[in-house]
Amino acid sequence: MGAFEHLKAKNTTDIKSNHLYGSGMATAKFITFEGIDGAGKSTHLSFVADLLRERKKAVIVTREPGGTTLGESLRAILLHEKMHLETEALLMFAARREHIAQVIAPALERGEWVISDRFTDATFAYQGGGRKLDLQKLAVLEQWVHPHLQPDLTLLFDVPLDVARARLDATRTLDKFEQEKADFFAATRAEYLRRAAEFPQRFRIIDSTQAIATIQEQLRGIIAGLDR
Ligand SMILES: Nc1ncnc2c1ncn2[C@@H]1O[C@H](COP(=O)(O)OP(=O)(O)O)[C@@H](O)[C@H]1O
Ligand SMILES: [Mg+2]
Repeated sequence: MGAFEHLKAKNTTDIKSNHLYGSGMATAKFITFEGIDGAGKSTHLSFVADLLRERKKAVIVTREPGGTTLGESLRAILLHEKMHLETEALLMFAARREHIAQVIAPALERGEWVISDRFTDATFAYQGGGRKLDLQKLAVLEQWVHPHLQPDLTLLFDVPLDVARARLDATRTLDKFEQEKADFFAATRAEYLRRAAEFPQRFRIIDSTQAIATIQEQLRGIIAGLDR
C-alpha cells in the first residue's frame, strides 16, 4: 500500500472536467464509486449525494451494471449466469453504452451531477484483473463506447480481502462475482490500485478499514475540493 500513499491526498485542486457534456454552463461532474464487493461503496453513496444536495447541486444516483431498464435486465443475467469471459465483458459494455445514452450524458447535459456505483474501472478490475481478460481488448471497448467521457472523480474504496469478505458474509446472499475465491479478489483489487496509480488525477483512494464516520469526514473534504 505504501506505493499508493501519494493518492490519499485530501485536496482535489487539479481535478478538471473529464467530459464534454454541459460545457458552457456551470459544469456538472461525474463521480464514480469503485472497490471490491464489501468495500463500502453502497454505504457512502447517499451520503455523498446528500453532501452535494446541501451544496445546491441537482444529483442523480445510478449504478452499473444497470441504471436503465435494459441495463438492469443485463445485470440480472451478468450477476447470475455463467458465460464466456468475453461475452461478460461485451455485455458489461453494452449495458454501459445504454447507461451513457439514456442516463449519464443527458443528466450531465442538464447540469445534474451523476454518481454511479461502479463504471468502466470495474470492468478493468473484474474482467481484466480478476478474470485475466486482455486489458487491450477492454481498452478497445472503452474507446468505442465512451471516447470522450471519463469520471471527474473516482472514489476507490480499498480494503483487504478478509475485511471485505467478513462484511459480506455478515450481510447478504452472494451473487456470481461475490462467490469468487480470494485470488480473484486479490487480482481485482490489484488492478483497481494499478489504475489508480495510472490515473492519479481523477482517483482518490479511501482506506475503507476506517470507521464509517471517519470516511465520511474524508469524503466531505474531497467533495468540498471538487465543488469550488
Ligand atoms: N467502514 C466500515 N466499517 C464497518 N462496516 C462497514 C464499513 N463500510 C461498510 N460496512 C459494512 O460492510 C457491508 C458491505 O458494505 P457495502 O457498502 O454494501 O459494500 P459494497 O457496496 O462496496 O459492496 C455493509 O454491511 C456495511 O454496513
Ligand atoms: Mg454495493
